[in-house]
Formats: sequence, C-alpha cells, structure tokens
Amino acid sequence: MSILNFGSLNLDYTYRVPHIAAPGETLTSRSLEIRPGGKGLNQSVALARAGARVCHAGLIGEDGRILEEVCRESGVDTKFIGVSDVRTGNAIIQVDDGGQNCIILFPGANRAVDEEFADRVLEAFGAEDHILLQNEISSLPYIIVRAWERGMKIILNPSPMDERLKECDLEKVWLFILNEVEGAQLTGMKEPEKILQEMRRRYPGARIVLTLGSDGSMYSEDGNTLRQEIFPAETVDTTGAGDTFTGYFITEYLASGDAAAALRSASMASSIAVARKGASEAVPEMEEVIRMLRERGSL
Ligand code: RIB
Repeated sequence: MSILNFGSLNLDYTYRVPHIAAPGETLTSRSLEIRPGGKGLNQSVALARAGARVCHAGLIGEDGRILEEVCRESGVDTKFIGVSDVRTGNAIIQVDDGGQNCIILFPGANRAVDEEFADRVLEAFGAEDHILLQNEISSLPYIIVRAWERGMKIILNPSPMDERLKECDLEKVWLFILNEVEGAQLTGMKEPEKILQEMRRRYPGARIVLTLGSDGSMYSEDGNTLRQEIFPAETVDTTGAGDTFTGYFITEYLASGDAAAALRSASMASSIAVARKGASEAVPEMEEVIRMLRERGSL
C-alpha cells in the first residue's frame, strides 16, 4: 500500500511584516525568504517524515527543480513530478509578529496538470493505494473520478476552498481533512458539531477530520466523534501547520486505524511546526514527535 499525493509544488516568498497589510497600505517587510512550499509538497514531506510510503505527482517549471530535490531528500518518491513549460507555482506570504499569515497564490505549473498527465500517473496505482488531494492543481474533478474508478481510497483536503470544488464529486471521498473555515464554506454551518453533522448527512460513508485552530481538532465516523486538544506552543509561523497535521494524521491513521492516536500525533507535529519558520522545512521527524509526546506524558 502506498499513498499517491497528487498536489501542488510552490516556491514560497515569505515576507516578515509587523502586521498583515491593510487595503491601500504600503508596508515595508523586515525580510524575504524563499522557501519550498505548496500544500501538496508540504503534505508529502509530512507524510514521509511521519514514516509513510508516499509518491508525489505534480508539475513544476524549470525554475522549480529545487522542489523536486526537497521532496527526494525527505524520502518522497518523485518519479511523477514533471517539468512543464509554465513557470513554477508560487505563493506570496506575509507573516506577522504573532506568526499569523496571509497568502496569495500564483498557480503556475500546478494548473498545467491535464487529463493525459493524470492518466499516466494513475495507471501506476490501484485498489490497494490511497490518493491524497488538495485544491491547488487543475483537473481535480477528473482525477477524483478516475482514482475512484481504479478503486483507490480518496483523501481530500479541500484547501483552498473555491468555486472549482463544486465541480468535484465529493461523494467519492473516503476521508475529508478540513478546517472550520472550509467546513463552514462547504456546509453553511458555523458550529463545529453542526459542520460535522451536515458533513455526515451529505457524505455518510466518509470519515471526517475537522481542525479548529487553537481549539484543537475533531474526528467523526459513523456518528462517533473524538476530540483532541492542541499542545500549546509559542507561535513563530503558522504556514503549513495544517499540512503537517494532515500528513501526520494520515500516516498514523492508515498504519494503525486508531483515529485518537492519529489526532494526538498530528496535533503534536503541528504544534512543533508552528514554533518554527517555513512550511515544509518546519515539519518535524516522527522521532521528535514521539519524544515530545512522551515528555508531555501523552504516550
Ligand atoms: O499551506 C501552506 C501552503 O499554502 C504554502 O506553502 C503555500 O505555498 C500555499 O500553497
């Protein structure tokens, strides 16, 4: 069994700012760092560092070869990372003094993913495999249908949420991992319990993980709900913390089937990540997560 993560790869241009720029305001940043990112890449790195067998599929431009290297060095199988004529996707990220961020995406090569490329990748996977998807690449509706036809279990992190997601057949999703903002946009509900209730009503066969920022996270399946508090940490940069959570949750959940244990290690991994700069660079190794859980008496 392996995990195919068909997702974005971005160059993150991260600007440290005293506060997030307001409309009409010109703000001078304190620094600029260019780092590997993209929800897809970050989640592949998190899966690999958590111990999963992961293959990343996606497209970069000639200017993004470093992103393939980052994946490879983290233990991700990169044979389906292709190079297109379009420039690599990038993100303009403001990070304020409180570690909060604000992101503008330029999709670039991530939106050059077409049906032909998708078919070529999916041919190598079958019913014993899982596919992880986010909403930063093109051809998502097609990939969902084709992966499902091949019997793959579909895991969807519907982020960033936009109109394109309405074209996807979400009834084919096996596991949703979403935050409360995405949950509210998808269901029209505000309260976490109501979001889960509505998700269960619409997608009765799916498992659902709902992350709630500083209020922790929840897991719901067959009407049973689990809750996990966060492990408090000093926040330096929240970029990619959700991606770290996603990679860790999936790895533990697929390995043990224990959703409570998966929520616990995902929470610890993301709390370590928010205390560090960057997205994929902030993802901890599994040994560190286990050590921290032991230190906090949670293992
Ligand atoms: O989730 C964080 C990621 O979102 C960043 O790395 C950025 O590239 C955007 O895709």
